[in-house]
Amino acid sequence: MSGPNNKYILETHDLTKAFGGLVAVNHVNIKLERNKMTMLMGPNGAGKTTFVNVCTGVLKPTKGRVIFDGIDITGWEPHKVYEAGFVRTFQVPEPFLGLTVLDNVLVALGGSGENPIKAAIKPLWIKEEKEHIKRAFEILEKVGLADHWDKVASSLGAGQLKMLEVARALATGAKLIALDEPIGGTDPAYAGEILSYIKGLLKVWDVSFLLIEHRIDIALPFADYVYVMDRGTVIAEGSPDEVANNPKVIEIYIG
Ligand SMILES: Nc1ncnc2c1ncn2[C@@H]1O[C@H](COP(=O)(O)OP(=O)(O)OP(=O)(O)O)[C@@H](O)[C@H]1O
Ligand SMILES: [Mg+2]
Repeated sequence: MSGPNNKYILETHDLTKAFGGLVAVNHVNIKLERNKMTMLMGPNGAGKTTFVNVCTGVLKPTKGRVIFDGIDITGWEPHKVYEAGFVRTFQVPEPFLGLTVLDNVLVALGGSGENPIKAAIKPLWIKEEKEHIKRAFEILEKVGLADHWDKVASSLGAGQLKMLEVARALATGAKLIALDEPIGGTDPAYAGEILSYIKGLLKVWDVSFLLIEHRIDIALPFADYVYVMDRGTVIAEGSPDEVANNPKVIEIYIG
């Protein structure tokens, strides 16, 4: 493991992405601490999604470097970035709504869950399958879904479904999970619940989160550290409090 010696799970150096004359990401330097929830906020068109796309290989940077877990991953193909453990939840295939919670995690682990029917009628678990089930329960425990292991995914609530998505990302071996607007479209009560589960996960699992959100009223209190982007550049960074009191940030959001 290269990781633990590096303080940061992700660093970008002068990361830049231009679309013709439009510089969507402009010399962005960001450092994500391990085992923390770092939030990237900013108004529409600030460059948040483009930033993540460049980090995860969906787009090639115009300039700059991306260091993940101590490794220079600049320009890597998305599947390579994913395999290295930098995962965007939408890269993990959508939960199968017809499968149980447990089988969904088993599929992500790449085990017997791939054939749940066969697995159910033929309980001939080979060693690997047993280990997968143990691992799946371990993950479900941590995301608060262990008691729901045998429920069909379609019967879960919005918050639980989001946590199933996170569980599946963990099952793929994710070290850093980027969540682009995870609470988008959910009502504020669920949104808080989702974020507090994710926050709680950091206490019990070696994973880090990059949270991209513009519903700052809900999301900001959950962040450990915050970067604010506007028109391609980072205009502020700090604790949620520091950022919330930063005049530049206030101007963007209120002024
Ligand atoms: N493929 C593309 N080609 C050209 N311009 C693009 C492309 N993708 C994004 N842009 C432009 O880059 C800028 C940043 O867009 P981006 O989607 O990264 O912003 P965002 O911060 O994610 O916004 P939102 O909060 O609306 O999701 C915008 O001006 C957008 O129009
Ligand atoms: Mg976006």
